[in-house]
Amino acid sequence: MRTHHCGQLRPADIDSKVSVCGWVGSRRDHGGVIFIDLRDHTGLLQVVCEPEHLPDFAAADRLRGEHVVRFCGLLRRRPEGMQNPRQPTGEVEVLAERIELLNAAQTPAFFPGDSEVSEDTRLRNRIIDLRSPAMQQRLRLRHDMARAVREALANQGCIEIETPMLTRPTPEGARDFLVPARFAPGSCYALPQSPQLFKQMLIAGGCDRYYQIARCFRDEDLRADRQPEFTQIDIEMAFVDEDEVMAVGETVFRSAWQAAGLTVPDSIPHLSYAQAMRDYGCDTPDLRNPLILIDIRELVAGCGFKVFAEAAKLPDARIVALNIPAGGSKTSRRQIDELTELARSLGAAGLAYIKVENTGQGTQGVTSPIAKFLGDDLINSILDKCGCAAGDLLLFGAGRARIVNAVMAAVRNQAAKVGGLVSDGFCPAWIVDFPLFAADPDTGRLDCVHHPFTAPVADEEKQLLDGEKPETLRSRAYDLVVNGQEIGGGSIRIHNKDIQLAALSAIGIDEKAASEKFGFLLACLSQGAPPHGGIAFGFDRMAALAAGSDSIRDVIAFPKTQSGACML
Ligand code: AMO
Ligand code: AMP
Repeated sequence: MRTHHCGQLRPADIDSKVSVCGWVGSRRDHGGVIFIDLRDHTGLLQVVCEPEHLPDFAAADRLRGEHVVRFCGLLRRRPEGMQNPRQPTGEVEVLAERIELLNAAQTPAFFPGDSEVSEDTRLRNRIIDLRSPAMQQRLRLRHDMARAVREALANQGCIEIETPMLTRPTPEGARDFLVPARFAPGSCYALPQSPQLFKQMLIAGGCDRYYQIARCFRDEDLRADRQPEFTQIDIEMAFVDEDEVMAVGETVFRSAWQAAGLTVPDSIPHLSYAQAMRDYGCDTPDLRNPLILIDIRELVAGCGFKVFAEAAKLPDARIVALNIPAGGSKTSRRQIDELTELARSLGAAGLAYIKVENTGQGTQGVTSPIAKFLGDDLINSILDKCGCAAGDLLLFGAGRARIVNAVMAAVRNQAAKVGGLVSDGFCPAWIVDFPLFAADPDTGRLDCVHHPFTAPVADEEKQLLDGEKPETLRSRAYDLVVNGQEIGGGSIRIHNKDIQLAALSAIGIDEKAASEKFGFLLACLSQGAPPHGGIAFGFDRMAALAAGSDSIRDVIAFPKTQSGACML
């Protein structure tokens, strides 16, 4: 039906006879001459309909937006003054000689690419939305990335193997989606939260290196970066250590970014979990943001400001300051109120602040509701410790470490955004040296920081077997974080049955329960499972980051809404 795609035609094609198909983007009637912008996945092309060249001119007159149409005609140069240098096809146009209406369209709820439309409306009318240049670009970008990743993994010796969708629960920390099994009334399959246990069994089965671009299903609270079904680039390898898995992971990340035409720094820094929590209050720091949390607990313990003095007495106290350079003059009263609201929404009682007018002048040099409680000397020491200059803004968090970290990590992000401090580009980092377990703050029960199949560091295996202070064990897990988002995570796995039983026991799964739930894995570990490890990337998050989208819904053809509904 077509000789060319709409967006392909160039001056070199002038004087050829062309057939082009697409959707009517716009139709402009210039008194006896009709201009059509014809659109397909490659772009727009101007078609000119003149009665003397187009016998069925009346058909052109009846065209409406989103009608599907085929034109045959002569490609010619647009007259002087009618050229559009901003459009790739802006120097040419088709002089229509034949028109064929392939399908009429109802007036759509909106036209593709209309930026005023709500996301619900876009999702409800997804086929119209998918026709927009932005959606077409993002889906094609995702395709290019997937293709590059497959190629890179094949070059690393990984083979693609599919694993079941109808399976038993795999614990990744979310709830399962269940599917009733007709053949066994009353029982269900679970949809996989990840292929974790299957990929470990593939390695035990001698497959050496596996990958899969796998659908995963998790029933959890949804956010911009979470969907109930999503896609992982899932990898597992035999006879490897952390560095070898991270090297393959880096290859995947680099090849995806390269396919998207984006650059990645030459080396990716490693940051320990403890360092990340200390400096950024979270294990997914956005390293484009230069702000760092400064610990002032020792400085303010026993001071006259009750909030700090009381907080310093807590067993797991944390008191930190965040210095926003030049923030004192640039941050409005309203912006400080909004930051305070954010802090409150995450559990803080408030967000104390100091606006620095001059340093070394105690209370005289600052504007702050807490200055009078701190006194001259302490103010000078705090400004000194935080490296303040005139014009800076200090924000404070004090209380239990868990809450202060969550609050100040969010305040750090928001304050940098407000102050325009976030640099461009991509700042990846590997987060390493995670604890193996973390205690639930309310119940004290231990849970896995990654998943129960993650190995402890080698010289702490005995401690795990002995069940001694499991909360102090370190794991062999790693996450890849880019611009404040966890895009991938993995670990070296436990390949010894006794260690696996000890890890399950630490989180309250005794041997009996372990053999009921994970009998097949335990059998696999006692049948010659090699040392192995792997990683999984959140492919939707990678594609959204590369596309510059805030939400993974933008890079999924048919996503669910924030409340999990399918609008179709
Ligand atoms: P994890 O649970 O960290 O690890 O998942 C790996 C990556 O998947 C992405 N991700 C999601 N993306 C969209 N929506 C979701 N609901 C969602 N949940 C997770 C994240 C995350 O980094 N089996 C292990 C991997 C391993 O150990 O090899 C696992 O699934 O980007
Ligand atoms: P208050 O004594 O409650 O009036 O608080 C005095 C100042 O300290 C106010 O600016 C509060 O926003 C702030 N503030 C209160 N609790 C905390 C906290 N836990 N961390 C940081 N600032 C706080």
